[in-house]
Amino acid sequence: MAAHLKTNMHVSSGLGAMSLHAAGLFSHLAKEAIRAKGSFTVALSGGSTPLRLYALLAAEPYRSDIEWPRVELFFGDERCVPPEHADSNFKSVNEALLSHVPAKAHRIHGELPPEEAALRYEEDIRRAFGGEEGPPVFDLVLLGVGADGHTASLFPGTDALGETERLAVAVYVEKLESWRVTLTLPVLNAAKKVFFLASGVSKAEVVRSVLKGKGNYPAGMVRPASGEVLWLLDTAIAEKL
Ligand code: 6PG
Repeated sequence: MAAHLKTNMHVSSGLGAMSLHAAGLFSHLAKEAIRAKGSFTVALSGGSTPLRLYALLAAEPYRSDIEWPRVELFFGDERCVPPEHADSNFKSVNEALLSHVPAKAHRIHGELPPEEAALRYEEDIRRAFGGEEGPPVFDLVLLGVGADGHTASLFPGTDALGETERLAVAVYVEKLESWRVTLTLPVLNAAKKVFFLASGVSKAEVVRSVLKGKGNYPAGMVRPASGEVLWLLDTAIAEKL
């Protein structure tokens, strides 16, 4: 891994403890950002790993602790399905968190044709970040990792990995036979903080490869220029590293 990249790791006994630790970090970063600039911008990960974290944030003490009206929540990616579809990241994140806190949520319109959804999301992001040139700087990006090394919906061997201008793109994932919309690497690599959440022995091999800079996985391409990457892991993974 490049020397300049600060890659830290925090190991918890299991998904519950990891989620609790992540909730504390999220709350601390939120307070810091809101104190500094009046807002806290986050790109949320889809998938199942972060759902415990989202449920903790929606409950006390974090429900009251965080100034949610100043928090802007985005998505790292979305499946191209309607928001009520079982596969929708919005659906699961809305049930766990968004429907419980008064944060502003920026949904990826998965019900639209993929490219239209990507363009609309990109416009929404640019508007939310004040139309500034270049990739927006998220205070925090939450990411998961698949056993194949994908993160968000940046899958190995897809053109999305080479995107240098767009903030969000539509990508057809052959092996899933489905369309996704995903943030691109320029956005992920502009973030101030990136938290990868990974739990369970099935992720051990890929996490070890990524941390050693091997395998050229998409998750290993997340190297924020000046931001910090923190891997939140459980012991099932850590003991295999
Ligand atoms: C998605 C996520 C994806 C996820 C990984 C890990 O839309 O599914 O963006 O990148 O983080 O596939 O998923 P799990 O947390 O369910 O293992």
